Amino acid sequence: MQTHDPRNDPTGVIAEATSRIEPALIAIRRDLHAHPELGFEEHRTAGVVARELTRLGIPHRTGIGRTGVVGLIEGDRPGPCLAIRADMDALPIAEQSGLPFASTVPGLMHACGHDIHTTTLLGVAAVLRDLAPRLAGTVKLVFQPAEEGLGGMQAMLDDGLLNDPPIDRALGFHNHPEMPVGRFGFVRGAALAASDRFEITVHGKSGHAAYPHTTIDPIVAAANLVMQLQTVVSRETPPLRPAVVTVGAIAGGTTHNIIPDSVLIKGTVRTLHAEVRDLAEQAIRRLAAGMAEGMRTRCDTVYRRGTPPLMNDDRVLDPTVASVRAQLGDVVAEGEPSLGGEDFALLAARVPGFQLRIGSGAPGRADKLHNSAYQPDEACIALGVQALARAAVDALE
Ligand code: NI
Repeated sequence: MQTHDPRNDPTGVIAEATSRIEPALIAIRRDLHAHPELGFEEHRTAGVVARELTRLGIPHRTGIGRTGVVGLIEGDRPGPCLAIRADMDALPIAEQSGLPFASTVPGLMHACGHDIHTTTLLGVAAVLRDLAPRLAGTVKLVFQPAEEGLGGMQAMLDDGLLNDPPIDRALGFHNHPEMPVGRFGFVRGAALAASDRFEITVHGKSGHAAYPHTTIDPIVAAANLVMQLQTVVSRETPPLRPAVVTVGAIAGGTTHNIIPDSVLIKGTVRTLHAEVRDLAEQAIRRLAAGMAEGMRTRCDTVYRRGTPPLMNDDRVLDPTVASVRAQLGDVVAEGEPSLGGEDFALLAARVPGFQLRIGSGAPGRADKLHNSAYQPDEACIALGVQALARAAVDALE
């Protein structure tokens, strides 16, 4: 009932509070951008986060998942706990943007926009702190380390992220340069891929290249296997359920007249659905074993499962999308899933979760994530703050 009373409409309050802090947020973002840190090394970044939360009077704990920070904004009345998560780590990329606030650390760059994410969540913290009296429940601000394949979310979960207070819902977000700034996106159900990897060592028997019959050639066997792996997606997984099997490395042999002892094949498997994930693993193991038998080699297959698919839950997605529309207008549209991976999926596998896409494409540019000249439009920070703060207010009011 309250939300129908225009006096309680938070739109103007959130918009004004955000525009007041936007210059400070952009300054923080540029500082973080100039000082990128790799996963689990975000000491300076975590220090900036802790400093800002202290300044805002928001209770927080550092050292959660090694370099992670967790802040709590408690409403005046009891209610559920909504986690909002930002990642903080940079990438081993040498920045080529030419910006005045470009990376000062050789070989490291915020090329995935996690500097934008960290700053956005600090902005959400500032806006929600002032709105806490109208909230029933708690907002848990999750500043996560090491998203880029290093296990930051798992480390935070191992350190009890889900407890004190227990998280009921989780909201994530990522900047999207493919969408112009001002636009937002969502994907229903499976949104990002399970990211698994395999290493297959094909063992043969070395010998003189002129006498192949006295050897067991692992190079021809491995070449066969690489081609057979192309049939996993084309012949075994359902065509309407996406999957990728990529062999990214193959190594063996030293010169032209020696048949080597072994060849190493490395690859990645991306799937959106659990049954396709199982099917791909079974097929790869079976093809390796069958090739080994047929070609007289021996195969050691190491198959490691990484992050699960990110499953967006309608119970978080629908109200969040409605909040973005209520705050900013008709700026949000459904998009397509991606076979990229993201460890927010681990949190969304434990509690209902949703990751919002925030358009960050600057006019006249065609930026891509993980590119050495990536330049997100900084206006996406304030827009993200408004969208996420509104989602939290609507969820807990
Ligand atoms: Ni990222």
